[in-house]
Amino acid sequence: MLPLRPLLSDLARLPLEARLRSVRQRLRAQAIDGPALEVGCGTGLLRAALGARPWTGVDVDGPSLELASGRSRPGDRVLAADATDLPFDDASFPLVITHGLLHHLDDAEAAAALAEMARVCSGRLVVMDLVRDEAPLLRRALYAADAGRHIRFASALHALCAPVMQVESQELFRSGVNRKILLAGAPRR
Ligand SMILES: C[S@@+](CC[C@H](N)C(=O)[O-])C[C@H]1O[C@@H](n2cnc3c(N)ncnc32)[C@H](O)[C@@H]1O
Repeated sequence: MLPLRPLLSDLARLPLEARLRSVRQRLRAQAIDGPALEVGCGTGLLRAALGARPWTGVDVDGPSLELASGRSRPGDRVLAADATDLPFDDASFPLVITHGLLHHLDDAEAAAALAEMARVCSGRLVVMDLVRDEAPLLRRALYAADAGRHIRFASALHALCAPVMQVESQELFRSGVNRKILLAGAPRR
């Protein structure tokens, strides 16, 4: 059967987010060499931005993973796993990225997921998510329609990341109609 729900969600997201151009650009700029793990990879829309390196995508949603498998390349892995309990050894990926996951998790889950990402990361952690602001009406309506119930202010996202990573870059940016934050740096040991 066609994975209709994630297909429809991508169809809605891509125009609203200007085809994720600004997210992909930032990902390319922040990426260091070596294999990458994407936590909450969804349908694998960001896979291509990571180029020739091996990519591992994990998510909890089976239909999304089906689509992500279709976007994967030889040598990639796509598997079902919860962000709060990653099935990988310590320091096993130079690059760990997550985009659009944290607002699906409450504070305790988000802290646990970030701790897991830091544990499995040996180099650079890149965290991107929606940010809450005193939003104009359209964005507030879109945020209300989002499946994620925990869209946070930038300061709250920084406070969640700071215990597990040395935040070296922080940037607020637009992704189509959405406002996002990028936090990147080395995991704390
Ligand atoms: C907005 S999508 C982002 C997907 C992808 N990173 C992208 O940028 O296109 C958020 C994803 O997080 C996944 N997710 C939610 N809770 C999760 C959890 N506890 N562990 C792993 N993935 C989770 C959802 O299934 C969904 O695919």
